[in-house]
Amino acid sequence: MTKKHAYITTAIPYVNGVPHIGHALDYLLADVWARYQRQLGRVVRFQTGVDEHGNKIAAKAAEQGVTPQAYVDSMYGNFQTMIHALNVDTTDFIRTTDIKHKAAVQYIWLQLEKAGLLYKDTYEGWYCQGCESFITDKEAAENNGICPDHQTPYQRLSEENYYFKASAFTVPITQALESGKMKIVPDFRKKEFLELIKDGLQDVSVSRPAKNLAWGVPVPNDPSQVMYVWLDALSNYLTVLGYPNDPSWQDFWPADVQVVGKDILRFHAGIWPAMLLGLDLPLPKVLLVHGHITSGGVKMAKSLGNGIDPMEILRDYGVDAFRYYFLRYIPTQDDGDFTWERFEAAYNGELGNDLGNLVQRVIAMTLKYQAGVVGDLPPNRHDMGPYHEAMESFEFNRAIDEVWVMVRSLNQYIDRVKPWEVAKNRETDTDAEAHLAEILSTSAGTLLQIAELLAPFLPETSR
Ligand code: MSP
Repeated sequence: MTKKHAYITTAIPYVNGVPHIGHALDYLLADVWARYQRQLGRVVRFQTGVDEHGNKIAAKAAEQGVTPQAYVDSMYGNFQTMIHALNVDTTDFIRTTDIKHKAAVQYIWLQLEKAGLLYKDTYEGWYCQGCESFITDKEAAENNGICPDHQTPYQRLSEENYYFKASAFTVPITQALESGKMKIVPDFRKKEFLELIKDGLQDVSVSRPAKNLAWGVPVPNDPSQVMYVWLDALSNYLTVLGYPNDPSWQDFWPADVQVVGKDILRFHAGIWPAMLLGLDLPLPKVLLVHGHITSGGVKMAKSLGNGIDPMEILRDYGVDAFRYYFLRYIPTQDDGDFTWERFEAAYNGELGNDLGNLVQRVIAMTLKYQAGVVGDLPPNRHDMGPYHEAMESFEFNRAIDEVWVMVRSLNQYIDRVKPWEVAKNRETDTDAEAHLAEILSTSAGTLLQIAELLAPFLPETSR
């Protein structure tokens, strides 16, 4: 039996820029799942939020001549605005600068320390500020000293850090992945990750010297050190539930699904489960990994000026058009592409013609021929097994495809049976009235079923 309580989380974006369509994708995928689970009667807790610490954000604040706190205070609202505009129905929004979060992260630190999982050491190596992560010498050499994701040179850092013994958990994490106790969806990402850790997980540096302008949560009992942004950020999935003080966190942890982009899977499949095991907590059930959205086949970047502003699409086309495109044409489990041409084709052809006109036709005929009265609805005739199977296996784009099969076949049915001709025959043919009523109630019934199936995707349209 499935549990009554359900918990889904999204990656918390850095606030060092305005939200883009990649961030929107995290939120949308989680929203579809949350709405579907609510339809099934579950009580869903749905976390979103923002990641406000780290040197990358401190650097941005310095560039603007404001304190990091003032900077993040001016930025997080953009993300809330977007979440709201996307009609993403969340229960929680966390900022990692929240006092409660910071206190809980310090508690987590102390627990890990008590368990003997933290130690101090000197580290020398390459660091990418964009990734907020150390890079192995091998990786740095392969990339000629420049981060391929951020196009900036790696920095050479030598400093005293606390380390977290992630290596102690290689075996249980590998087993959890292999047995499916903690699933990575899609499967090919699981294989990639298992390959990455086949020689074992490495211990990770989890603090930075405070003197190096680290903007983050102070390490308890050691003012010279500030916590590494990823330790702080990953903890949000627990702290947002009220961990450790509010016992209701236990109703929701372990998470049913954690939505992350492919670039941050290694943090969520490695460090995060190690932290949880160190805290003696169960692992999340599913890590749902989406790909990246490109714009006309090209990676979006500020420097290329090809970024797509989600607010522009939302303003000009409305929220359901946005949701439709990103949930159907960006495959849930892989990379996808956005172009205005394809977006408009989907908007006009599919939402406008296929669905919009269909609804209008059925309404208009029901008004004209039956004064708006729909008789008894016939039982559902469509096998929605494939839809539910797609939803259960996190192939949301395929679930929409299934609904569209129904949309198209209802259009074909109406074109074939021609209710307008049946209506004309009513004077002469005594069966025509009943036939017409049956056609219209079949159509209305199918539309209602379509509406229900589309509700997680297009809540407004479906209503
Ligand atoms: N702050 C960290 C996440 C911490 S989670 C405890 C971070 N932030 S981010 O802003 O860089 O990315 C946030 C999310 O947006 C990630 O899931 C990332 O994969 C996603 N995307 C960023 N660019 C993207 C695309 N172009 N396409 C799709 N999603 C991408 O990493």
